[in-house]
Amino acid sequence: MARNTTSGVSAAAGRRWQAIDPLLPAPSVPPGCGARLVVTAAGNQPVAVGRCEHWEGAPDSLELSWGAARRFQLAAAIPVPDVADALDRLLSLWRDHLARVPGTDGDDTAAMVTWPSRDIDAVPAFQRHGLVPVEVIAARGAGRGAAGRPSRAESGAGYSQPTAGQAGNGLRIRRAMPADIDVVARLGLEVIRFDAHFGKVIERPGTAAAMRREAGRLLAGPQAWTWLAERDDVVVGMVSAERPESAGWIAPMVRAAPVAYLELMYTLPHERGTGIGAALVAALHRDIDAASAAVTLLHYEQINPLSAPFWSQQEYRPLWTTWEARPARGIR
Ligand SMILES: CC(C)(COP(=O)(O)OP(=O)(O)OC[C@H]1O[C@@H](n2cnc3c(N)ncnc32)[C@H](O)[C@@H]1OP(=O)(O)O)[C@@H](O)C(=O)NCCC(=O)NCCS
Repeated sequence: MARNTTSGVSAAAGRRWQAIDPLLPAPSVPPGCGARLVVTAAGNQPVAVGRCEHWEGAPDSLELSWGAARRFQLAAAIPVPDVADALDRLLSLWRDHLARVPGTDGDDTAAMVTWPSRDIDAVPAFQRHGLVPVEVIAARGAGRGAAGRPSRAESGAGYSQPTAGQAGNGLRIRRAMPADIDVVARLGLEVIRFDAHFGKVIERPGTAAAMRREAGRLLAGPQAWTWLAERDDVVVGMVSAERPESAGWIAPMVRAAPVAYLELMYTLPHERGTGIGAALVAALHRDIDAASAAVTLLHYEQINPLSAPFWSQQEYRPLWTTWEARPARGIR
């Protein structure tokens, strides 16, 4: 397909996405593995364009713990209003492509599509092809609800941020330092273990070591965006985020900039539900707002029963949903 046809499709698909959700960026259909997936209508007009990206995790990388070891990811642009039919036909082409790729029936493989959460017309096509929603990227706009509403705190609608004081006696919220690497790595590993219940995240032999390296990175430099909750000098909770300088990898997922990324959040089980999480996030949000980050993004597992309500209370809302089939050849 001519390059200008692809860009025309992307532009039209982008206008559709903007109408659905103003935080969405323009669709991007990178070259991928080279397999060109195009659905056309009468007159050879493209109604869906997709590329399949083949990803393989480095054995010692932390990213390997957040999902399958080999990921086959579809990027797509659909310029027409009847997204369900166009996507249905595109997913059929992708299924046929994956059936020809060696190794897509391996246990540790996944076929993945990350699609705008609010594009609900696409849902039947994903379901028809055996894909299930596994993960959400949620967004919070700076100082306001990400949907453009004043935050509950600003609107005075009876909502007040819990403080460390409300969370109970002897609780202290403090910024983490490089010397806190052990506890940050330990609680970070607990996040992976908790999320591993929900089907996408996997603790691997190298996860603990990779998390320790990650903790070192998150704590490097002055004024790390990592906050700890301590009760009687024992750490009972943690939140950690990347500044915009380090979050460039996820910045293309949202139209606004600069983008911060909230990476890890954990409260010890017996301390949950008392406001520690909210107090940690309030401290982090003060850093983020002072740095004028326009949007903060985070991932949560779709069926983690603690995540979605908690993040909603903290002013985050779904932006993208990742749909997945495992193994990759499990797509129907
Ligand atoms: C998500 C998580 C970090 C929240 O931490 P937390 O310390 O329990 O958070 P909070 O106490 O501030 O809020 C949790 C709930 O307690 C409620 N709560 C807050 N302050 C309260 C108080 N003073 N008294 C009673 N309840 C309170 C909140 O309303 C919230 O309830 P809801 O979810 O039913 O709306 C925690 O559940 C956790 O560690 N989960 C496992 C790991 C995980 O899921 N991490 C996130 C990955 S994305």
